[in-house]
Amino acid sequence: MNNVEELISEQEILKKVEEIGKKITEDFPNDDITVVSVLKGSFIFTADLVRFIKHPIEIAFIAASSYGASTVSSGELKIRYDIDIPVKDKTIILVEDIVDTGLTISRLKEYLFELGAKDVKICTIFDKPDRREKQVTIDYCGFVIPNEFVVGYGLDYNNKYRNLRNLCKITI
Ligand code: IMP
Ligand code: MG
Repeated sequence: MNNVEELISEQEILKKVEEIGKKITEDFPNDDITVVSVLKGSFIFTADLVRFIKHPIEIAFIAASSYGASTVSSGELKIRYDIDIPVKDKTIILVEDIVDTGLTISRLKEYLFELGAKDVKICTIFDKPDRREKQVTIDYCGFVIPNEFVVGYGLDYNNKYRNLRNLCKITI
């Protein structure tokens, strides 16, 4: 049995998500935006966030991995599920669960530009800057957290714990 301990409560998370949604609503008053959710981890954050954005927006999903099966970064981006709508000339909000080394999100941002996106903003609910390898500008950030392995609010350990409503530190 793993030991799970709360770091951020459900109420704190939802309050922050509402703030980010309002900010995005204000920042893009006239602009059509496309939210691209990075699966699987950001599915819960995306579902909450998009309902706080008060414009009709497009939503698409992408699944990628920059590690392959190992925990050591290869720097290579593997697209496991690709976006199913055109992104050319669009303003994209790339929605992540957590930015750790920064490799995944920076490669995905490059990929969207390669597909012809006009602009790509990065939005993450959690940021773990201590292990950053690739500097990346985070345009919308929920919480900066310490270098702990965390689960809940979409984040998993061995595909479990994604359904926890709060963010927890897990001792493995
Ligand atoms: P990176 O920024 O390329 O290192 O990778 C970020 C991805 O690694 C995230 O999208 C998560 O899927 C995963 N990840 C990083 N830290 C954690 C954690 O503490 N718990 C669960 N998944 C994590
Ligand atoms: Mg992820």
